[in-house]
Parts: sequence; C-alpha cells; structure tokens
Amino acid sequence: MSEEKAVGMVADSPPDTLPNTAPDRADLFEALDTIGNYFASGMRLTHVPEELLECLRSATAATAIAGEPASALGALQAKANVCSACMLSASRKTVVFGQGAPAPEVLVVGEGPGAEEDNQGLPFVGASGKLLDKMLASIGLSRNENCYIANVVKCRPPNNREPAPDERVACMPFLREQIRILKPRVILCAGRTAAQALLETTEGINKLRTRQHDFGGIPLVATYHPSALLRDESLKRPAWEDLKRLRELIALGQPANE
Ligand code: URA
Repeated sequence: MSEEKAVGMVADSPPDTLPNTAPDRADLFEALDTIGNYFASGMRLTHVPEELLECLRSATAATAIAGEPASALGALQAKANVCSACMLSASRKTVVFGQGAPAPEVLVVGEGPGAEEDNQGLPFVGASGKLLDKMLASIGLSRNENCYIANVVKCRPPNNREPAPDERVACMPFLREQIRILKPRVILCAGRTAAQALLETTEGINKLRTRQHDFGGIPLVATYHPSALLRDESLKRPAWEDLKRLRELIALGQPANE
C-alpha cells in the first residue's frame, strides 16, 4: 500500500466527531465537515465509512421532511414522479410538478399541463403561459423571483380535456402538500378548475372571482384562466381588476416599512 492512507480502512478509523446518533441539520453539517477534513488531510478515499453514509442519508431525509422548502419540495416531487394513482400516468411524458420560488408571495394554480408542458416538464410554458407571465409581471411578480406555479393535476389529460373528478381527487394531495410547504402569502387560482378544486365548490368562475376566499388561512383570489383571455379579449379588463385585488392583498401582508 502507498504512503497515502486509505480512509475507511483499519488505519483510519473515523474520528470521534463522527455523528452516530439521530441526525439533525447540525449533524449533517458535521458529517459534511468530516468528509471535507478527510480530503484536506490528503487521505485517499477508497470508501466512505458506512456510519458516515448512514448519517448523511438520514440527515438529508430529515431536512427534506422538516427543513427547508426546496428540499421538502424535492422529496415530494420524487414521489409525484413515480405516481400512478390515476389513468393520466399511463399517457404522460413527464410529471409537471411545479416551478418557481421556494418561499413565494403568490402561488398560482392552473388546471393541468398541456402538450408543451408535458414535453418540457414545466407548467405554463405554452401560449397561455406567456400571457400568464405578462399578467404577473404587470403587478411585479415573476416565477423566477416571487411566484410558484403549479396545477391541480400534474399529468397531462389527453387532448387537453378537463381533468376528470377522480383524477383531481387522486392528485390534490400533492397540491395540498405543496401549499403546506410553500406557505404562499396569497393563492391565485387561474380558472374554474383550480378555484373549484381548492374551494371544493361547483360554483362558476364568474361568481367565484367576485369574492375573496380563504384556503386554510391563506387569502385566495380566483380569476379567468389565461387561455380564456386568449379566446375572449373582453375578459382582460375584469382579469386586470382581479390582479389589482391580488396586488392589494400582497401589499397588505407586507411589513409597513417595506
Ligand atoms: N394550462 C394550465 O392550466 N396549466 C399549465 O401548466 C398549462 C396550461
């Protein structure tokens, strides 16, 4: 054997600092430090001690469950990616989980992915998505900075039909969990399907958009789906009124000196 030491072999028993109890975030950082120290000391890493690997595995899982939104979302997305709870899973190309800031001002909820979204794996990337981005920009919002975009169903309904009731029911736990993790300041429902699913009602969008709602303590605004605005220009004016109400709600939640 060369003069270099081999980590994980008899000559290099793990240091005393190696965490071996139930890991939390501090343990995760300690474990990462330990690996860094092995490298820094010039040791040759032939294998990482199993205790260290176990510590990293469980610390990462704990972080995903109780810690930061991004890792909790990642863990949820991993479940969605293998979901086969309804028939939509049979024809999807990708699971369109959602996209945006992990601690958003606004969560935008649409109906379900279309063809372009199914191809790219991202929500609202077709024509209606471009309009949605413009609408959000008109009140200072963007999916890159302060919004998260998701749908009621994560897989494309064939021929862009409406998601069937059983498909909605099967997929709603993902949206509910996204809301619990993201804790948006306000929810914007883009279209009837999203508003009806979250508010558990059969009322039409014309009525729903005229009132402010609440989803588990989070203010909820309903407006027309961008594809409806593309079909009917006359809906743009009322949709703008909805966006202004959304902007007011966001401002109400800001600290006075912001
Ligand atoms: N329409 C939706 O409701 N969601 C998308 O992601 C795209 C189009």
